Amino acid sequence: MQRIMITGGAGFVGSHLCDRLLIDGHDVLCVDNFYTGSKANVSHLLNNPRFELMRHDVTFPLYVEVDQIYNMACPASPVHYQRDPVQTTKTSVHGAINMLGLAKRLKARIFQASTSEVYGDPEIHPQPEKYWGRVNPIGPRSCYDEGKRCAETLFFDYYRQHNLDIKVARIFNTYGPRMHPNDGRVVSNFIVQALRGEDITIYGSGQQTRSFCYVDDMVDGFVRMMATERDFTGPVNLGNPGEFTMLELAEKVLRLVGSKSKLVFMPLPVDDPKQRQPDIALAKAKLDWTPKVNLEDGLKETVGYFQKLLTENCKVHT
Ligand SMILES: NC(=O)c1ccc[n+]([C@@H]2O[C@H](COP(=O)([O-])OP(=O)(O)OC[C@H]3O[C@@H](n4cnc5c(N)ncnc54)[C@H](O)[C@@H]3O)[C@@H](O)[C@H]2O)c1
Repeated sequence: MQRIMITGGAGFVGSHLCDRLLIDGHDVLCVDNFYTGSKANVSHLLNNPRFELMRHDVTFPLYVEVDQIYNMACPASPVHYQRDPVQTTKTSVHGAINMLGLAKRLKARIFQASTSEVYGDPEIHPQPEKYWGRVNPIGPRSCYDEGKRCAETLFFDYYRQHNLDIKVARIFNTYGPRMHPNDGRVVSNFIVQALRGEDITIYGSGQQTRSFCYVDDMVDGFVRMMATERDFTGPVNLGNPGEFTMLELAEKVLRLVGSKSKLVFMPLPVDDPKQRQPDIALAKAKLDWTPKVNLEDGLKETVGYFQKLLTENCKVHT
């Protein structure tokens, strides 16, 4: 049993990690400033004596005693991270510095939730970890992409300079229950639009592809990564290599929801990558990990969550 801190633990992915670590028998300290996360995501855990929730902004130092740290704090969707881009960079960079400083004092193992966005708009597909990426340093997505790249740099400098026990995972698109309904991410967008009977917005021609990993598979990858030998630092890609076009995804969602929403086409946002697919050979070899949940099953769970959420919201507003 370990005392484990999760920054950003009240967010979409972080809250599932809280669930998993409690099931595994650990003590969990969830640290969050609720910028995009919510107490509702962890309300079912508040009566658990092994769970503690702390409001704190990781851009400020934190003094706690824990054995392991998962650094997940950072708004992840473009609408959220572009709302206050300076704060996004601060969260990634100052947050990493503060959490690495804490891990150094505690001699604690520390995990960084990095992102496939470090590859930018890639020239090679799928992207292996050794690919350095093609990132615009001055665009509207740069606060996130470059913030996360700098956080990786800090992790590896702490590793080289202070022999810190680091684990870096590059997360590709993840979906599942507790995604924010208004975060503009494609899966939640399509589901919410279909459930409300609104038009489904497709950016560009809809032929750009993405791969989506169900959140339970992703969290399992984190736990496996955290349990690897000390000399395995990553970075390691975690994601589902199964690719779908946006058009295919929209059609699947419409079918599952039983919706008659129409598809409408809008211009592609600036710097939107046309294709993104993880090469997970390293995760397979080192973590013995592959995603298990297929898109259909994962979408059913996610649709169920949003159905409940939208019904409850309707009740609140009537
Ligand atoms: N979901 C994905 O597809 C995806 C893909 C790649 C990387 N990631 C990374 O995984 C992590 C979690 O993503 P998510 O999808 O759960 O996003 P999310 O926005 O739901 O969760 C982020 C959490 O961090 C908290 N947070 C933000 N700034 C903070 C600060 N300064 N101090 C303390 N807490 C702060 C938010 O309130 C929220 O609870 C992020 O670091 C993100 O970059 C996610």
